[in-house]
Amino acid sequence: MTDALPDGVERRRFDGAERLATRGEPVYGEPTDREWRAWNPDRSKLGAMLELGMDVDLAGGDDETVLYLGAASGTTVSHVADFAGPTYAVEFAARPARDLLSAAESRPRLFPLLADARKPETYAHVVEADVDAVVQDVATRGQARVALENRRFLADDGRLLLAVKARSEDVTRDPEDVFADVREELAEGYEILEEERLEPHHADHLGIVARPLGE
Ligand SMILES: C[S@@+](CC[C@H](N)C(=O)[O-])C[C@H]1O[C@@H](n2cnc3c(N)ncnc32)[C@H](O)[C@@H]1O
Repeated sequence: MTDALPDGVERRRFDGAERLATRGEPVYGEPTDREWRAWNPDRSKLGAMLELGMDVDLAGGDDETVLYLGAASGTTVSHVADFAGPTYAVEFAARPARDLLSAAESRPRLFPLLADARKPETYAHVVEADVDAVVQDVATRGQARVALENRRFLADDGRLLLAVKARSEDVTRDPEDVFADVREELAEGYEILEEERLEPHHADHLGIVARPLGE
């Protein structure tokens, strides 16, 4: 657990309440205060991981490169692109990807990619090598496999920041059993450094910080 936030992320007051915030154009109707926009942890797994004090090991700044899997309409990845450098945002559904394009209009470092995160070879020619962080929130079956398939993009000292949604793997199983299976599969390519359930922000989700194991 840490209080350290990436450069470019601050705790600021909005309507009397302290919230995480980044500087950028608003994207999802979030409160703003001049150039700052509140980051809603109830709408963002990465926001919840930060709010819960997980050590996500993001430095922030122009040099930090991020591959974001499951960008949807850009709620979270827009905050990432506000504080990080080149941010590649993979989303395979055309409809949210249209909104993602709008979020990218004011963010020159945000690169939307309409692609399937299970097929990294389809975007490997665009994403630069050795990214500092892979952030994953795909809410689909096979979440550990997606993380393993995308390990190839991570620098040796990079981090996987993974939100696992138990119900996307199997709605009928106890989430703790699902998380145990995910941990076991992830161990093929990652060492888990920290994990925490994301309640009260997201039910039946596990936040994981992991580092890639050497080949
Ligand atoms: C929970 S939503 C993501 C929300 C987003 N991360 C945020 O916080 O703003 C999950 C997204 O993952 C996308 N997704 C699911 N499977 C995917 C895949 N194989 N490749 C790319 N995107 C995928 C879905 O279309 C959906 O938009």
